[in-house]
Amino acid sequence: MATIVRTHTCGQLRKEHVSQTVQIAGWVNGYRDHGGVIFIDLRDRDGLTQVVFHPEFKEAHDLANKLRSEDVIHVTGQCVAREAGMTNPRLATGEIEVQGSAVTVLNKSQTPPFSPDEADKVSEETRLKYRYIDLRRPRMQHVLRTRYRVTKLMRDYFEKQGFTEVETPFLYKSTPEGAREFLVPSRIHAGSFYALPQSPQLFKQILMMSGMERYVQIVKCFRDEDPRADRQAEFTQLDMEMSFVDRDDVMNIIEGCVRIVWKEVLGIDVPNPIPRMGYAEAMNRFGIDRPDMRYGMELTDISDIAAKTDFGVFKGALGAGGTVRTVVLPGGGDMTRKETDGLAEWAKGFGAKGLAVTKVIAGGKLETGIAKFLAPIADDLIERTGAKEGDLICFAADSEKVVFKVLGELRQKLARDRKLIPEGQWKWLWVIDFPSFEFDPELKRWIALHHPFTSPRDEDIPNLEAKPGECIAKAYDLVCNGSELGGGSIRIHNPEVQARVFKLLGLSEEDARKKFGFLLDALKFGAPPHGGIALGIDRIIMHLCGTTNIRDVIAFPKTQNGADLMTEAPSQVEDKQLKELSLRVTGQ
Ligand code: AMO
Ligand code: AMP
Repeated sequence: MATIVRTHTCGQLRKEHVSQTVQIAGWVNGYRDHGGVIFIDLRDRDGLTQVVFHPEFKEAHDLANKLRSEDVIHVTGQCVAREAGMTNPRLATGEIEVQGSAVTVLNKSQTPPFSPDEADKVSEETRLKYRYIDLRRPRMQHVLRTRYRVTKLMRDYFEKQGFTEVETPFLYKSTPEGAREFLVPSRIHAGSFYALPQSPQLFKQILMMSGMERYVQIVKCFRDEDPRADRQAEFTQLDMEMSFVDRDDVMNIIEGCVRIVWKEVLGIDVPNPIPRMGYAEAMNRFGIDRPDMRYGMELTDISDIAAKTDFGVFKGALGAGGTVRTVVLPGGGDMTRKETDGLAEWAKGFGAKGLAVTKVIAGGKLETGIAKFLAPIADDLIERTGAKEGDLICFAADSEKVVFKVLGELRQKLARDRKLIPEGQWKWLWVIDFPSFEFDPELKRWIALHHPFTSPRDEDIPNLEAKPGECIAKAYDLVCNGSELGGGSIRIHNPEVQARVFKLLGLSEEDARKKFGFLLDALKFGAPPHGGIALGIDRIIMHLCGTTNIRDVIAFPKTQNGADLMTEAPSQVEDKQLKELSLRVTGQ
């Protein structure tokens, strides 16, 4: 095929190009026949241009007559001004059109399963199966370009700050600690497996011990967990690590990074500094460690006044050392019994035994739900919770853990469902002072809240074994509008402290050596104090592009059950391959 000449893209032509002969190429976005005059909307990566074919250019007109959606064509023609009244202000090229004098069909398209213009009308499965058609949409192309722009801004920023991008291996060692891992069988070492890294955590720490001082990497991470709206099994982090720093140094570098990105992409100023909140305060006020600060509806502890009622549910929870807390839904008094019963059912999904409610009516009285039990404390309750006439008060009574979980989720659900979240606001927050460890009643041992390499505060180190539950970690999470954009910490750089933490987490000395011997060794040969963080790139792009679906910001994402519908991965493999890997599949 001869060289394809394009003098312009389909987004470029304006009035000043009128009377020029131009050559453009792209996909047929739509076609209309207006009494023998054929109109084609031609689309390329840059936009749309209207091409008209008049019968006097017979050859071109005959060809144009046969064009259908998504045919790939090349057009030569003259740029002309559209007649008055025919301009299209919604199109950048809306003042002109191209009078086609020659057309070459570069490739015909069969009738596509959907047209990019109508992608909103088909199921997400269809869009993912024919992702190449879906990605032709200007919206998707905008997202992918934004993604590239953001990672470029980040790389430029980190380079200016003296960081070096270093690639770390994808074929790594299995260290089942956090999420489930993807395993890769080794052919050469029959019966042994690599694991795909959940993050480059230990490599980046080792890079600090290798004298790199400032490492950054935009890197894929793999976690075999169920994909969700903001989670994929394969996702991208901006991962960084620094030596000779404390918490504020890492936080400042990251603030600078998101400040540039939000300013360049959205023209939005990220507050300087980003406010900070302790984990304990976040849990008490919002029931969650990544509070959405765009709205109120904070939790209220009413345990002391709940103790004055005869309500068995409250008494039971308080008697077992639990707590009673509320969330108030402004204007929620209009909810029906069916709706509030539905909330209670929903709450059970988060471990609640139920969800009691009552409504505030005129004269500061309570009505419906558990109102009869609340009569003796009505005034105190209304004063404490700040509930107003017409509001719904929701109660959770249980252990602190369950109450926080249920009310933290309820607050978000109610705000979302009732459209109480103001649009166009950006509320940033650092959550700091996380507990280092949490007791897992199922495993019957302590687990690390962040990861086992996170340093407790200096003053907590002597009490590691005596009071693990009281140790506070030098960890920090970056939260934006209720979503966790990043998390990191200052690390342990002392081999003895690291060994003590492994022991506390139930790893025998032998296991610790087997799994993390390389780290314990490296810590002994000159490990500088260091710390870092990782940001979730996919989540950042979701915010910047205004979508709540992580699949919209990934070119080729997986579905909720981990499938790639286009290539049909995962798939079965041939017996020969299994044999080579010394593997046998038992049961499907
Ligand atoms: P963490 O596990 O908190 O930290 O991950 C850092 C950030 O990565 C994003 N993220 C995800 N995004 C999409 N899909 C997922 N499944 C997913 N999991 C995590 C989140 C999260 O805040 N090694 C540590 C970082 C460190 O300590 O430096 C780590 O991976 O935005
Ligand atoms: P019951 O006594 O189980 O019939 O529950 C009475 C009301 O209290 C119902 O509205 C339940 O949804 C609610 N409820 C039950 N257990 C709890 C709990 N632990 N916390 C809050 N409300 C509860």
